Amino acid sequence: MTSKQWQLAGDAATRYEAILVPAILGPFAKALVDWADLKPGSTVVDVGCGTGAATRYAAAKIGHSGKVIGTDVNPGMLKVAQSLPKIDGAPIDWQQETAYDLPMNVETADAVLCAQTLQFLDDRPKALSEMHRILKTNGILYLSLWCPIEQNPYFYNLVNTIADHLGADTAAGLGAAFKLSDPDEIQSILHAAGFSELETTVAEIKLDLPPVQKFVPRHIHATPMGPGYDAASPAAQQAILDELVKLLFECQTDAGICVPFRSYLVQAVK
Ligand SMILES: C[S@@+](CC[C@H](N)C(=O)[O-])C[C@H]1O[C@@H](n2cnc3c(N)ncnc32)[C@H](O)[C@@H]1O
Repeated sequence: MTSKQWQLAGDAATRYEAILVPAILGPFAKALVDWADLKPGSTVVDVGCGTGAATRYAAAKIGHSGKVIGTDVNPGMLKVAQSLPKIDGAPIDWQQETAYDLPMNVETADAVLCAQTLQFLDDRPKALSEMHRILKTNGILYLSLWCPIEQNPYFYNLVNTIADHLGADTAAGLGAAFKLSDPDEIQSILHAAGFSELETTVAEIKLDLPPVQKFVPRHIHATPMGPGYDAASPAAQQAILDELVKLLFECQTDAGICVPFRSYLVQAVK
C-alpha cells in the first residue's frame, strides 16, 4: 500500500534530495525561510525537516550565534540530511522524532518551521500542540502548505494521470500533499491549537523543469508513488508519460517545461 504520510523507503530519500529538492521543494523551502522573520542568534526548530532544505536555509539566515534543530520521523531522510556539506551558519542538530512528541523542552524555540509536512500528519492537533508547547511566548510558527491541487497544474495532471492508469491508491502517495489546502481549515486548526495573529500569503514560483519524459519518472521515484509505478507494465508507464506530454503541452519551453507552483505560507504567533 502506498504511504500517505510521505514515508520513503530504501534510497528514495537520496532521490528526494537529488531530484525533488532542487526542482520543487528547495525553492519553496527558501521562500518560506525568506518570508519568515528569523532573527540572528535565535533558536529554530524545523519539524518534518526531511533532508533539511528549510533547516539549512534557516541556519544560514540566523548565523553562527543561533541554533537549529531539524526533526523528522524518517531515519532515511535524516541520514541524507546529515551527509550533506555543512553550511556557513548556525550549527544544526538532527533528531529523529515524531512530530507528536518533539524532543525539546517547553518554551525553548523562537521559531518553528514546518515545510510541506503538516498535511501528511494523521493527528494534526497533537502535532500543533507540540509546536505550540516548544515555542516561547510570542514565538512564531511558519508553515508551508500547497494551495489546492487545481492551482498546481503539474501536480494536478500528474496525480490524475497516475490515478487513471495505476489507480487511486498509488496516486494518493502524492495526492496526500493536498489534504490541507483549505485556508479556513488551516486557520481553524491553528486557532484551536492556541495560535493567534495568523497571516497567510501565497508564494507562486514558476519552475523550469526538464522535459516530461525525462523528469516525471525521476520525480515519481522520489515520491511514495515509486513502488506503484515500478509495478506497472512498460506500456502503462509510457502511456502515462505520453498523456502528460499532451496535458502540459502549453508549458513547453526549448529546454523542458515551465510551470507555476503555488503554496500558502502561513505564520501564527504563540
Ligand atoms: C514532503 S516531505 C517535506 C520535507 C521537508 N520539510 C522539505 O520541505 O523538503 C514531508 C516530511 O514529513 C515527514 N513526516 C511524516 N510524518 C511525520 C511525523 N509523524 N513526524 C515527523 N515527520 C513526519 C516525512 O518523513 C517527510 O520527511
